[in-house]
Amino acid sequence: MTSRPHLANTREELRSALGELHGPVALVPTMGALHRGHAALLDRARAEVGPDAPVVASVFVNPMQFAPGEDLDRYPRTFDADLEVCAEHGVDVVFAPSVEEVYPGGDPLVTVDPGPLAQVLEGASRPTHFRGVLTVVAKLLGLVRPDVAVFGEKDYQQLTLIRRMVDDLCMGVRVVGAETARDPDGLALSSRNSYLDENQRWQAVALSRILVAARDAAKYGAGVAIGAARHELRHARGVDLEYLELTSPDLGPPPEIGPARLLIAARVGPTRLIDNVALTLDGDS
Ligand code: PAJ
Repeated sequence: MTSRPHLANTREELRSALGELHGPVALVPTMGALHRGHAALLDRARAEVGPDAPVVASVFVNPMQFAPGEDLDRYPRTFDADLEVCAEHGVDVVFAPSVEEVYPGGDPLVTVDPGPLAQVLEGASRPTHFRGVLTVVAKLLGLVRPDVAVFGEKDYQQLTLIRRMVDDLCMGVRVVGAETARDPDGLALSSRNSYLDENQRWQAVALSRILVAARDAAKYGAGVAIGAARHELRHARGVDLEYLELTSPDLGPPPEIGPARLLIAARVGPTRLIDNVALTLDGDS
């Protein structure tokens, strides 16, 4: 049995929908075009607050995080199907505001400065992206005032920066990171996968193959892990690498041994894809 979530398009509708609900609130911010990865976040949100507390999903394609020339206008919009996913996964309130509702009066004068971590990796080619992400996440947290907010490890730099923002600005919400949902062949689910044709979809699996090769070789140390990744990369047809970077779990310099993160961005045809994996470096052979 699924029940329809309450749909709120305005701040007032959101307030009155939340006013009727009781218990700790969980929020899952999304830009819609919901897939199994988003659904896993909705389930995680439910698990975090329990069966009777409110789960809110926001659906808002945030113009501020797209640079001119990026895919804002053609970003997939599948709102009716998104509502179905939310209903199936027990969402209580779907907050789907207009751009004017989120940014009355246009671009905000005050925005969140994401600091130096936003200039590396994704930020190297998208220097204004994380200012837009953190600003809208701060606004959504302010509007919904959740106890818990759930984000995916798929966007690892985003998750790391949101954790930093919430800590550094004392925002008083618990941030939960959820594992990346993948297709059976390893491709990380992404709304942008819908841009791929059949051949590109097949080529795109190389990203996860590259990461898994490194993860499996990590017990021999960082050099061997990166070597294994580069070996896979040389065999990856149609994959135009933008970066492949080994870092610490909080995106600092990689450790000699212990937990680390490997992040990749590449173009497959015109579509830019990202992925990452946790690995444990060991240098004892
Ligand atoms: P969007 O790309 O719609 O993603 C919404 C949430 O789903 C993010 O936390 C993202 O990391 C997570 N997600 C996407 N693909 C996933 C996968 N395969 N497995 C698990 N989680 C996955 O990320 C955004 O929207 C926006 O930047 C947002 C945070 C909503 C701010 O506008």
